[in-house]
Amino acid sequence: MQTPTRRTFLGICLGGLAAAGAVAAAYPLLSYLAPPSTGSEGAKVSFPETDIPPDGAKFFDYRGSTGVVIRTRQGQLLALSAICTHLGCIVQWEKEKQDFLCPCHAGRYSPEGTVIAGPPPRPLAKLPFVVVNGVITVG
Ligand code: FES
Repeated sequence: MQTPTRRTFLGICLGGLAAAGAVAAAYPLLSYLAPPSTGSEGAKVSFPETDIPPDGAKFFDYRGSTGVVIRTRQGQLLALSAICTHLGCIVQWEKEKQDFLCPCHAGRYSPEGTVIAGPPPRPLAKLPFVVVNGVITVG
Protein backbone atom coordinates (compact mmCIF):
# COMPACT_ATOMS: atom_id res chain seq x y z
CA MET A 1 0.00 0.00 0.00
CA GLN A 2 2.94 2.30 0.61
CA THR A 3 4.37 1.97 -2.90
CA PRO A 4 1.33 3.44 -4.79
CA THR A 5 1.22 6.40 -2.40
CA ARG A 6 4.94 7.04 -2.88
CA ARG A 7 4.58 6.73 -6.66
CA THR A 8 1.64 9.08 -6.61
CA PHE A 9 3.59 11.61 -4.58
CA LEU A 10 6.60 11.41 -6.91
CA GLY A 11 4.29 11.74 -9.92
CA ILE A 12 2.74 14.89 -8.51
CA CYS A 13 6.19 16.35 -7.80
CA LEU A 14 7.47 15.57 -11.29
CA GLY A 15 4.29 16.98 -12.85
CA GLY A 16 4.68 20.18 -10.85
CA LEU A 17 8.31 20.50 -11.91
CA ALA A 18 7.37 19.94 -15.55
CA ALA A 19 4.62 22.58 -15.36
CA ALA A 20 6.99 25.08 -13.73
CA GLY A 21 9.59 24.38 -16.42
CA ALA A 22 7.03 24.91 -19.18
CA VAL A 23 5.95 28.25 -17.70
CA ALA A 24 9.59 29.35 -17.30
CA ALA A 25 10.32 28.40 -20.91
CA ALA A 26 7.22 30.14 -22.31
CA TYR A 27 7.60 33.40 -20.35
CA PRO A 28 10.28 35.00 -22.56
CA LEU A 29 8.31 34.14 -25.70
CA LEU A 30 5.05 35.54 -24.30
CA SER A 31 6.85 38.67 -23.08
CA TYR A 32 8.29 39.18 -26.55
CA LEU A 33 4.91 38.79 -28.26
CA ALA A 34 2.96 41.02 -25.86
CA PRO A 35 2.53 44.68 -26.89
CA PRO A 36 4.95 47.01 -25.16
CA SER A 37 3.72 48.62 -22.01
CA THR A 38 4.37 52.33 -22.04
CA GLY A 39 3.14 52.94 -18.53
CA SER A 40 1.29 55.96 -19.86
CA GLU A 41 -2.18 54.55 -20.53
CA GLY A 42 -3.86 57.38 -18.65
CA ALA A 43 -1.38 60.08 -19.60
CA LYS A 44 -2.32 63.41 -21.12
CA VAL A 45 -0.18 65.25 -23.63
CA SER A 46 0.17 69.03 -23.52
CA PHE A 47 1.87 71.51 -25.82
CA PRO A 48 1.52 75.16 -26.76
CA GLU A 49 -1.13 75.99 -29.32
CA THR A 50 1.57 77.88 -31.23
CA ASP A 51 3.21 74.52 -32.07
CA ILE A 52 0.56 74.08 -34.75
CA PRO A 53 1.15 76.31 -37.77
CA PRO A 54 -1.73 77.70 -39.84
CA ASP A 55 -3.20 74.86 -41.95
CA GLY A 56 -0.66 72.63 -40.25
CA ALA A 57 -0.44 69.61 -38.00
CA LYS A 58 1.47 68.41 -34.98
CA PHE A 59 2.05 64.70 -34.52
CA PHE A 60 2.89 63.38 -31.07
CA ASP A 61 3.23 60.16 -29.08
CA TYR A 62 -0.04 59.40 -27.40
CA ARG A 63 -0.55 56.44 -25.08
CA GLY A 64 1.93 54.28 -26.93
CA SER A 65 0.57 55.30 -30.30
CA THR A 66 0.51 58.43 -32.49
CA GLY A 67 -1.92 61.31 -32.30
CA VAL A 68 -2.25 64.45 -34.37
CA VAL A 69 -3.75 67.89 -33.85
CA ILE A 70 -4.48 69.96 -36.94
CA ARG A 71 -5.53 73.53 -37.50
CA THR A 72 -7.82 73.83 -40.51
CA ARG A 73 -7.86 76.81 -42.86
CA GLN A 74 -10.88 78.05 -40.94
CA GLY A 75 -8.80 77.98 -37.74
CA GLN A 76 -10.60 75.01 -36.21
CA LEU A 77 -8.50 72.65 -34.06
CA LEU A 78 -9.12 68.90 -34.34
CA ALA A 79 -7.39 66.04 -32.48
CA LEU A 80 -7.35 62.56 -33.97
CA SER A 81 -5.54 59.27 -33.78
CA ALA A 82 -3.01 59.15 -36.62
CA ILE A 83 -3.39 55.39 -36.94
CA CYS A 84 -5.04 54.36 -40.20
CA THR A 85 -8.03 52.12 -39.57
CA HIS A 86 -7.12 49.87 -42.51
CA LEU A 87 -3.86 48.22 -41.45
CA GLY A 88 -2.44 50.66 -38.93
CA CYS A 89 -0.01 52.85 -40.85
CA ILE A 90 0.57 56.42 -39.70
CA VAL A 91 -1.38 58.92 -41.81
CA GLN A 92 0.19 62.13 -43.12
CA TRP A 93 -1.39 65.58 -43.12
CA GLU A 94 -1.50 67.03 -46.63
CA LYS A 95 -1.60 70.74 -46.03
CA GLU A 96 -2.25 71.68 -49.66
CA LYS A 97 -5.21 69.30 -50.02
CA GLN A 98 -6.40 69.74 -46.43
CA ASP A 99 -6.79 66.00 -45.87
CA PHE A 100 -4.96 63.00 -44.45
CA LEU A 101 -3.24 60.51 -46.74
CA CYS A 102 -2.26 57.03 -45.64
CA PRO A 103 0.97 56.21 -47.50
CA CYS A 104 0.44 52.45 -47.32
CA HIS A 105 -2.65 51.96 -49.52
CA ALA A 106 -3.66 55.52 -50.42
CA GLY A 107 -6.48 55.80 -47.92
CA ARG A 108 -7.72 59.37 -47.54
CA TYR A 109 -9.48 61.03 -44.64
CA SER A 110 -11.11 64.42 -44.28
CA PRO A 111 -9.78 66.83 -41.61
CA GLU A 112 -12.51 65.46 -39.31
CA GLY A 113 -11.20 61.91 -39.90
CA THR A 114 -14.00 60.71 -42.18
CA VAL A 115 -12.93 58.23 -44.88
CA ILE A 116 -13.11 59.90 -48.30
CA ALA A 117 -11.15 57.38 -50.42
CA GLY A 118 -9.35 54.06 -50.30
CA PRO A 119 -9.75 50.95 -48.20
CA PRO A 120 -10.02 52.24 -44.60
CA PRO A 121 -13.17 50.77 -43.07
CA ARG A 122 -13.71 53.36 -40.34
CA PRO A 123 -12.95 57.03 -39.61
CA LEU A 124 -9.89 58.04 -37.64
CA ALA A 125 -10.59 57.98 -33.92
CA LYS A 126 -11.27 61.38 -32.39
CA LEU A 127 -9.21 62.32 -29.34
CA PRO A 128 -10.58 64.48 -26.53
CA PHE A 129 -8.73 67.74 -26.01
CA VAL A 130 -9.04 71.13 -24.36
CA VAL A 131 -7.32 74.46 -24.95
CA VAL A 132 -6.64 76.51 -21.84
CA ASN A 133 -4.55 79.68 -21.88
CA GLY A 134 -2.96 78.75 -25.19
CA VAL A 135 -2.05 75.21 -24.11
CA ILE A 136 -3.61 72.19 -25.81
CA THR A 137 -4.08 69.15 -23.62
CA VAL A 138 -5.03 65.89 -25.33
CA GLY A 139 -6.44 63.03 -23.28
S1 FES B 1 -2.99 51.01 -43.90
FE1 FES B 1 -3.89 52.90 -44.44
S2 FES B 1 -4.86 52.53 -46.32
FE2 FES B 1 -4.00 50.64 -45.78
